Amino acid sequence: MSAALLEVERLAVGYGDVQVVWDVSLSVKQGEVIALIGSNGAGKSTVLRALSGLLRPIGGTIAFDGEIVDTASPPDFVRRRLIHVPEGRRLFAGLSVHDNLMLGAYARSDRDNIAGDLERVFDLFPRLRERRRQEAVTLSGGEQQMCAIGRGLMASPRLLLIDELSLGLAPKLVDELVEALRKVNADGTSLLVVEQDVATALEFAHRAYVIDQGRSVATGTASEILHDPSVRAAYLGL
Ligand SMILES: Nc1ncnc2c1ncn2[C@@H]1O[C@H](COP(=O)(O)OP(=O)(O)OP(=O)(O)O)[C@@H](O)[C@H]1O
Ligand SMILES: [Mg+2]
Repeated sequence: MSAALLEVERLAVGYGDVQVVWDVSLSVKQGEVIALIGSNGAGKSTVLRALSGLLRPIGGTIAFDGEIVDTASPPDFVRRRLIHVPEGRRLFAGLSVHDNLMLGAYARSDRDNIAGDLERVFDLFPRLRERRRQEAVTLSGGEQQMCAIGRGLMASPRLLLIDELSLGLAPKLVDELVEALRKVNADGTSLLVVEQDVATALEFAHRAYVIDQGRSVATGTASEILHDPSVRAAYLGL
């Protein structure tokens, strides 16, 4: 694995005057799957919001593909192909599955590749192909997550940020999503995944970062983190 695609150093982020992320550092190398772990309220979603331009950092630096992007806007991150699949899926009501997926491609300059990528999303998630004319918000929870990830993939991401991959989904569906994301990763897309189910996250990721109360507290390979006694106690109930 080569140079860092994403390098976050001493990130600080807040909402108005309320600071919630104090000191988070992490990196994602080209081709890696990284898990971001932490209890409720630790600041995981807040970090992802800063990494997609939805929140402006109040300290630290974010570099993507060797360029400092701290002040980039959300469309700027999309153009750089750093794509955020938000918590709660956020599909557009009144639009079909197909149209939600196509919205993911709005900023692309390589229009010729869009049709092929749509087929690729449908190959990855055949249920979306069957239901492409259905209104997206009437899909089941698992199908909505497929559609949200598919919309992210339609932006041709170099790095895909996924918040709460498995929340509310049955284990079999989670396995399906993980299998699909393994293929996405094998095709060259790097992944940064926030996942409540730490065992699943560590089975799938190469490396992991643990944050607590807005601060980085541990990092290592997935297997090192899986065997870390404090992680086992805090997140795996062992
Ligand atoms: N829009 C907001 N305005 C003010 N405070 C917020 C906002 N969103 C989150 N916070 C606060 O920031 C802190 C971190 O929240 P965040 O959503 O990043 O945590 P999280 O690690 O994603 O938690 P969870 O696992 O529950 O999703 C929490 O204390 C939360 O109350
Ligand atoms: Mg969250």
